[in-house]
Amino acid sequence: MLFKQQALLRQKLFVLGSLAIGSLLYLVARVGSLDRLQPLCPIDGRFGPRGQDEIPLRALQFKRGLLHEFRKGNATKEQIRLHNLVQQLPKAIIIGVRKGGTRALLEMLNLHPAVVKASQEIHFFDNDENYAKGIEWYRKKMPFSYPHQITIEKSPAYFITEEVPERIYKMNSSIKLLIIVREPTTRAISDYTQVLEGKERKNKTYYKFEKLAIDPNTCEVNTKYKAVRTSIYTKHLERWLKYFPIEQFHIVDGDRLITEPLPELQLVEKFLNLPPRISQYNLYFNATRGFYCLRFNIVFNKCLAGSKGRIHPEVDTSVITKLRNFFHPFNQKFYQITGRTFNWP
Ligand code: A3P
Repeated sequence: MLFKQQALLRQKLFVLGSLAIGSLLYLVARVGSLDRLQPLCPIDGRFGPRGQDEIPLRALQFKRGLLHEFRKGNATKEQIRLHNLVQQLPKAIIIGVRKGGTRALLEMLNLHPAVVKASQEIHFFDNDENYAKGIEWYRKKMPFSYPHQITIEKSPAYFITEEVPERIYKMNSSIKLLIIVREPTTRAISDYTQVLEGKERKNKTYYKFEKLAIDPNTCEVNTKYKAVRTSIYTKHLERWLKYFPIEQFHIVDGDRLITEPLPELQLVEKFLNLPPRISQYNLYFNATRGFYCLRFNIVFNKCLAGSKGRIHPEVDTSVITKLRNFFHPFNQKFYQITGRTFNWP
C-alpha cells in the first residue's frame, strides 16, 4: 500500500516537473522571439514605395529568422524557390573610407530587418580581374534576401579607385552611396596602424609614421604617402561627382558612430528611406571593448573583431599639427560640397 502511494506521488511529481520545465522552455522561446520582433519591428511598420508589392515589416522580420537559417548555408534549391529568396544587386554601397568605421556601419545597418549585408568585401568594381567576370558574378556574390529587402555591400577601396565611379554608374545610376569619414589625421594614423600590425605579424620592421607622413627633403607633408592621400576626402569625392549628384551620397560621421552610434544610424535609415527600426536596445556599450556592440535579441549579441579598435602608436605632436594644417583647406571644401560640417581641427 505504502509502496503504491509512493509510486503515485513520484508519478505526480514527474508530471508536475515536466509541466514546469515545458512552460519554462516555452517562455524562454517566446521571450526570445518577442524580443527579436519588438524592438526591431513594430507591427504597423512598412517600408519602401507604397504599392501592391508592399508587405508588413513584421512578416519580413519573421522571414528574416528563416533567412538567418539559410545564411548558414543549409538552404536547398527547393527552399530558396519556396521562400522566394533572391540574390539582389546592392541598392546602397558603403564606398569608404578605409578605417572610417566601414565595418561597424555595415554591421549596425544589418540590425535593420529590411537590410541584408554582403559579409565579405567583394572588390568587384576596384579589381579589374573581378570586374572582368561580369555583373552576374557580382550578383551571385550577394547574400540571399527577400525581394523587399535591400542588399548593402562595403568595399572601402572603391572610394579611392579611379575607375570605380563610372563602373558603379553603369550598373545603377541611381544607387545610394554611403561614405563614412573620420577626422583625417586620426584616420591616417589608423590606416598606418593596420599596415604596421600586418608587418609585425610577419616579423617585419616598418617605418615610423612620422617618417612616412613627412617628406624628409622638404619637411612638408608627404602627399605621396597613401594614408595621407586617402584622407584628402574632397579630392576623391570630386571624381565621384562627375558621375553622381551630391544628393546620392550620405556622409556618416565615423567619430560619432564610435561614441554615439544611434543618431548616425537614424540618419542613414532616413537616407535609405527605411522606417526607423534600429533602437538603443540594439546597441550597448561594452566597457571591456571600449566600443558599442550589437544586440539582436536577448540571446544573440556580438562585438566587432579585435582588429577593429586598435591602439594607435603615439605620434609626434608637431607632425600631427602639420597634418592637421595640411588637411584644413581640403576639409573646408569637403564641408562645403557635402553640406555636413565636422569639428575637425
Ligand atoms: P581604429 O582601429 O583606428 O580604432 P574600418 O572598419 O573602416 O576598417 O574602420 C575601423 C574603425 O572602426 C576602428 O578604427 C574603430 O575606431 C571604428 N569603430 C567604429 N565603431 C566601432 C565599434 N562599434 N567597434 C569597433 N570599432 C569601431
